[in-house]
Amino acid sequence: MKRVSSVRRHEPGARSTLSGMMPRCLVTVHVTALVLATCGPLLAQSSKHNPGVQQKAFGTQGGRPVNLFTLTNVNGVEVDAMNYGGILVSIRVPDRKGQIADIVLGHETLDGYIPNPPYIGAVVGRYANRIANGTFTLDGKTYTLPKNDGPNTLHGGVDKTFNKVVWEGEALKGKTGVAFTYLSKDGDDGFPGNLKVKVTYTLTDSNQLVIDYEATTDKTTVVNLSQHSYFNLAGEGTGDILNHEIMINADRFTPVDKNLIPTGELRPVKGTPLDFTTSTRVGARIDDSYDQIILGHGYDHNWVINRKGDGLTLAARVYEPTSGRVMEVSTTQPGVQFYTGNFLDGTVTGKHGHVYKRRFGLCLETQHFPDSPNHPDFPSTTLKPGETFKSETVFKFSVK
Ligand code: GLA
Repeated sequence: MKRVSSVRRHEPGARSTLSGMMPRCLVTVHVTALVLATCGPLLAQSSKHNPGVQQKAFGTQGGRPVNLFTLTNVNGVEVDAMNYGGILVSIRVPDRKGQIADIVLGHETLDGYIPNPPYIGAVVGRYANRIANGTFTLDGKTYTLPKNDGPNTLHGGVDKTFNKVVWEGEALKGKTGVAFTYLSKDGDDGFPGNLKVKVTYTLTDSNQLVIDYEATTDKTTVVNLSQHSYFNLAGEGTGDILNHEIMINADRFTPVDKNLIPTGELRPVKGTPLDFTTSTRVGARIDDSYDQIILGHGYDHNWVINRKGDGLTLAARVYEPTSGRVMEVSTTQPGVQFYTGNFLDGTVTGKHGHVYKRRFGLCLETQHFPDSPNHPDFPSTTLKPGETFKSETVFKFSVK
C-alpha cells in the first residue's frame, strides 16, 4: 500500500497564463489586445469564463439528491463532476486552434448513467480491477466477494460499488474543486471494515485535473481506488482512438491469464506490442497475434510504472494528431491499466446521440496491480486501522 504523507502541489506560478494550452499565445488572459490579435477564438470563450465552481441539481437517485459541479479555470477549461459514482461527466478543453471539445465519453443526463456497465467516468472501488475467484485472505480470514466478471470480482463487486452510490459532494473553499465523501459499511460487497473514502477533483489554472484519493478503515481491509473515464482527445463520439499516439512510462507489465488475472510475472515490454516506451499509434499493434493481445482483446493490461521513490511520476502521455490535444497522466500509484474500450459494443448511446462503439475511448486507470490481495509480491493494498491511504493522479491537458 502506497501511503503518501505529503502531497505535492501543482505549479502555483502558472496561474492565469495560457502557455500550457497555446504555445503560440504566451499571454495572460488579461492582455486583451494581444489575445485578440493572435488568439481570436480563444478570447471569445475566455471572455465568458466564470472561474470557480458552479453547482446545480442533476436529479435524484434512491431518493437522494445528485448535483453536478462545474469547475472552470481561467483558461475556460471546464470539468463537470457529479456525486453519483463520483462520475466525471465532461471535460472540455481546447484544441490547437482554441476550439473546445468534450473529451470524455458520457451522458447528458443522470438517467444515462443508470445502469453504467462500462463504468463510464466513474470512481471505481472498493477494489478497482479484478480479484481472482472473488476471494482473498487477510490475517488468516478468508473473504468472499460477489463475482461479476466470470469467476472474478471486478471493480468492487455488484451491490454498493463506488461507481453507483450517491456520495456527499461539497465544493472546495478557496480552490476550483469538489470533494466527494462516502462511507462504505463493514461487509458491503463482502469487504471488511467501515471504509471512509474521499475523492477530490481540483482544476488548476495550468489545466491540470488533480485527483486526490483518501481512505481510512476501522478493520484491516484491502483498497484500490481508480478513475474510469474513457478519453477521446478528438472529442467524444467522433470515432475510435486507434490514431491516438501513446507513450507509457513502463518497462514492464503484468501479463494475464485467460480471465485477465495477473500470472504474477513482471514481464519486460521490450520486443512485445505492449512496448510504448516511445510514443506509438494505439492501433499500430492492437490486433497483433501476441498471446497477451489476444487474451486482452486488445490492450487491457496493467503496466508497472517506472518510478524512483513514491512521488508523482509520469505514467503516460497521449497525443491526438488531428486536434493537437495532449494529455499527460502522472500518479503516485505503482500501476496503470491501459484499456482500449475493447468491450464497448455500440449498445451505449451517449452524449448528443453518439453511439459508443468498440475502441471509441481509452482509459488510463492509475491503480495498484490487479489481484494484489492474492499476490504477496505485488505492492500491498492492505489498509489497517490508524493508517490513511492516500494517492494522487494528475491529468494535464495541453496542445502541440
Ligand atoms: C476495466 C477492465 C476491463 C473492462 C472495463 C469495464 O478497465 O480492465 O476489462 O472490464 O473495466 O468494461
